[in-house]
Amino acid sequence: MSPSLTDRFGRRIEYVRLSVTDRCDLRCHYCMPKGFKDFETPEHWLSFDEIERVIRIFGELGTRRIRLTGGEPLVRKDLSELASRLASLPGIEDLSLSTNATRLARHAIELKQAGISRINASLDTLRADRFKAITQGKLDKVLDGLMAAKAAGFHPIKINMVVMKDVNEDEVEDMVEFCIEHNFTLRFIETMPVGDTGRSATDQFISLNTVKTSLAKKFDLLPATMPGGGPARYVQVAGTPLRIGFITPLSQHFCDTCNRVRLAVDGTLYMCLGQNESYELRPLLRTGISDEELKQHITQAIELKPERHEFNEKPETVIRFMSMTGG
Ligand code: GTP
Ligand code: 5AD
Ligand code: SF4
Repeated sequence: MSPSLTDRFGRRIEYVRLSVTDRCDLRCHYCMPKGFKDFETPEHWLSFDEIERVIRIFGELGTRRIRLTGGEPLVRKDLSELASRLASLPGIEDLSLSTNATRLARHAIELKQAGISRINASLDTLRADRFKAITQGKLDKVLDGLMAAKAAGFHPIKINMVVMKDVNEDEVEDMVEFCIEHNFTLRFIETMPVGDTGRSATDQFISLNTVKTSLAKKFDLLPATMPGGGPARYVQVAGTPLRIGFITPLSQHFCDTCNRVRLAVDGTLYMCLGQNESYELRPLLRTGISDEELKQHITQAIELKPERHEFNEKPETVIRFMSMTGG
C-alpha cells in the first residue's frame, strides 16, 4: 500500500502549500498592511536545501501536490531553481504556483522549463485606478505577466478574484468576458477574516451565493469539474469553454474535504488557514535529525489538524497575516 498521511478526521493530507517568502511587492488591503516592513529576517527562512528535504519527506508520506505561495513567491530569488528541484522529487505529480503576476513577464518561460505545471493568479479588477487603490501597484504589469504566462504555454491559468462589496462586485461580468477572451479559468473568493487586514475587510464581504444568483440571470451555468487540489466548486458557462470556481469558506465551508497543510518560510507547519495549530520544523532540521525522525514529527504534527475553521463564530482567531501562509 502506498504511504499516506491521514488526520484524526480521516482526511488524507496530500497537498502542501509552500510559502517561500512572506514578502510581497503589492499591498492588497485585505491581505497586508500598507507600509508593512516587519518581516521575518532571512536567517529564519528555510534554505532551498531545507525546503527540498521537507518536501521530499512529504512526498515519501504520500503528498502529490505542492503549490508555491508567498507573500509573492517570485520575490524569492532563484525561485525557478527551487521549482526544478521540487519538480524532480519522486511522488510530486502537481507543482503549481499562486502569484500576483507582477513578475511573470520576466519569469514565465523559466518557470515553465523548471516544471511548474500550472499557475493561479490574483486579479480583483480590470481597472487601473481600482487596481492601484486595492493593491498600490500597477495593473499593466499584471496583465503583461498573464499574457506572458499564456504565451509560455501554461494551461490552465486560473484567475483568483476576491469579490468585495462596493469595491469590485460590479466587475464580475467584465471578468467573465475577460476570462472567456483569454481562455482563463475564473474563481471567485469570499473575503476571509485572516489577520487585522482580512478582518478590516469584513464589511466588504459578499456571499458568493449572491454573485452566483446574479450571474445565473445573465449566463446559463452548467455543473462542471476542473483538475486541481483546492476547494473551488465549478460551473461552466454554456456555449463557452469558461469554467468558474466558487471558493466559499464562509457561506459554505469545505473543511470536511480538506487535504492540505501549509509550510511557512520560517519552517512553521500550519495545520489550518483559519486556526493556530502549528508545528515548528526549523529547529528539528537544524539539529540534524534523521529522515525517519522527521517523518515521525510530520506524522505527529498532522494529529494537531483541527476539524475546521471558525471564521464565522470566532473571526478574531487568526492574528498572522495571509502573506505568512499564502492563503
Ligand atoms: P487548485 O489546485 O488550482 O485548486 O488551487 P487552490 O485553489 O488550492 O489554490 P489558490 O492558491 O489559487 O487558492 C485560492 C483561494 O482559495 C485562496 O484565497 C486561498 O486562500 C483559498 N484556499 C485555499 N485553500 C484553502 C483552505 O484550506 N481553506 C480556506 N479557507 N481557503 C483556502
Ligand atoms: N480573504 C480572501 N482571500 C484572500 N487572499 C489574500 N487575503 C485574503 C483574504 N483576507 C487571496 C489572494 C489570492 C489568494 C492566494 O489569497 O487574493 O488570490
Ligand atoms: Fe482545511 Fe482549515 Fe481550510 Fe477548512 S479552513 S479547508 S480545515 S485549512
